[in-house]
Amino acid sequence: MKKLTDPQRREAFELLKKHLGDRKKKTPHEILEIGIGDGANLEYYPENSSLTALDMNESFEPYLKEHLKNYPEIRYRRKVIAMAENMVGVEDSSIDIVVCTYTLCSVTSIPSVLKEVKRVLKPGGKFLFLEHVSYPKSDWNYLLQVAVAPLWSPYLGGCKVKQRTGEEIRKIGFSNVDMDTTYDEKLLLFSRPQLLGKLFRPERDSNFLYLINEIRFGCVSHILDSQLEVYSFGVFCISPTGEFDSYSFLHLAPFNST
Ligand SMILES: C[S@@+](CC[C@H](N)C(=O)[O-])C[C@H]1O[C@@H](n2cnc3c(N)ncnc32)[C@H](O)[C@@H]1O
Repeated sequence: MKKLTDPQRREAFELLKKHLGDRKKKTPHEILEIGIGDGANLEYYPENSSLTALDMNESFEPYLKEHLKNYPEIRYRRKVIAMAENMVGVEDSSIDIVVCTYTLCSVTSIPSVLKEVKRVLKPGGKFLFLEHVSYPKSDWNYLLQVAVAPLWSPYLGGCKVKQRTGEEIRKIGFSNVDMDTTYDEKLLLFSRPQLLGKLFRPERDSNFLYLINEIRFGCVSHILDSQLEVYSFGVFCISPTGEFDSYSFLHLAPFNST
């Protein structure tokens, strides 16, 4: 899997480097990688990296440590055994870069993970994500994903083949999101759509209190704290994809009190 996805990983970290600027600071980049496994991304880390490794599976660490021997320039700070949905042990606003590759396909709640990412990032911190995702529903290959899904998940440790990760990221209301889906023919057809993107936590959080997200068929499915950057009106109604259909979402955001 790593060999096949090397081009995507390389591209992801190139994207990140573009946004790191000319960093001559002595202080290292505090990186948190969630769902790190054995550390498939280590070779792409930026110079001057300091790593906190998080995974729910505690057996990952010996493999990661072995792998880290090839990268003595990376300062390994610590491991955190936790669910990405609840990163107990990672302090608020303590991380410069959160990296997540091929992990959001397995988590139980993408919104919870994203909320945690927002919590642990420093203002101005970056989140880099690379994930295999669902084909658009209008694509014939989506039907293949639907057909294979019941077998895929049990055999691949809970990985969901048609996760709509991009929509979840848009819904949560981060600003500065930049993402794109590519389809590299060298990759397995089922997991070919690759979502690559990055986003920043805003330098300055605004006074938003709540985003009431996802009113589906008149039923509020969850209420999320929000730290959105810019909105100046109270109520608006739009679907995350910009369309209105039977799955439209109603978003309510309170006035910015400043
Ligand atoms: C498919 S592997 C990807 C490993 C690595 N990130 C890569 O790009 O090759 C998914 C990893 O995420 C971890 N994982 C899955 N769900 C998780 C969750 N909810 N919280 C933390 N780790 C999780 C798994 O234990 C596994 O190490």
